[in-house]
Amino acid sequence: MQRIGIIGFGNMGSAIARGLRAEHPDLEIGILEPNAEARRKAETELDAISYTDAPDRFFRDCATVVLSIKPQDLEQIAEQLSPHTAGAAVISVLAGTPTDRVAAALGTKRVARFMPSLAASVGKSLVGVAFAAGADEHLRETARTVAAAIGRPLEIPEHLMAAITGVSGSGLAYAFTFAHALAMGGVSTGLKYDDALAAAVMVLDGAAEVLRATGEHPQALASKVSSPAGTTIKGLTALERGAFTATVIDAVEQAALRANELES
Ligand SMILES: NC(=O)c1ccc[n+]([C@@H]2O[C@H](COP(=O)([O-])OP(=O)(O)OC[C@H]3O[C@@H](n4cnc5c(N)ncnc54)[C@H](OP(=O)(O)O)[C@@H]3O)[C@@H](O)[C@H]2O)c1
Repeated sequence: MQRIGIIGFGNMGSAIARGLRAEHPDLEIGILEPNAEARRKAETELDAISYTDAPDRFFRDCATVVLSIKPQDLEQIAEQLSPHTAGAAVISVLAGTPTDRVAAALGTKRVARFMPSLAASVGKSLVGVAFAAGADEHLRETARTVAAAIGRPLEIPEHLMAAITGVSGSGLAYAFTFAHALAMGGVSTGLKYDDALAAAVMVLDGAAEVLRATGEHPQALASKVSSPAGTTIKGLTALERGAFTATVIDAVEQAALRANELES
């Protein structure tokens, strides 16, 4: 892969750089980042090349550029960089920011859009990937490779980014909340919180692994562990008495609605 540039070496920019370095040890990574401490980390830990005083060379040298700044900084940073960005191949991770806004700000039609989650920091993010009409095959291939370095790409039409936000970006918080709730159930039945939380984390980890390894439908697996008149069916019944499934569906819908609101 040709040199990848990263604009903004914060949480997401550094997660992407780390994933790329782990998956592609020989890849050259360039960064554009004003913070000296962040630059030093990128240079020493990831062998990245800093271009802070040379944005012209940054855009010349980097075949594809990942834009990982705060969404509210887009117009101001685009203005600073505008002499160099025309026609650049850009992967934007900016939440709530449509490809046409990024394209207009940077003066390029070659735009991909990612919706990753915090799990990118451990290489386990689902990454919603959408392309502007002007995205060429080189950008599409590079985007798939970059997304795979932080987890798993899922290509979707751009209008479904809000749904991916509701399921994946925000979904992580639902899973954290479920882990805490399960641990509190453990406390309520006599376990120490730390032991109960450790058990809850293994439950989530184990469930994800079994789903992946077997490819079976989640309800088929839930049926398998529910013996007649046993413990699990009693627990599942209590969950549904609390409208568990409907509540989770509602949570995804509410988050997706908010994502759409923020984007318009
Ligand atoms: N974090 C997540 O889990 C997550 C999930 C999905 C999407 N995203 C998206 O990822 C993007 C970045 O989020 P983040 O959490 O990584 O934010 P962040 O940690 O604040 O990173 C933004 C970085 O951009 C740098 N920056 C500021 N001005 C710049 C300039 N003129 N040129 C180059 N870099 C500049 C900032 O430097 P300073 O610190 O010096 O200001 C900072 O290092 C956002 O658009 C967000 O919507 C994040």
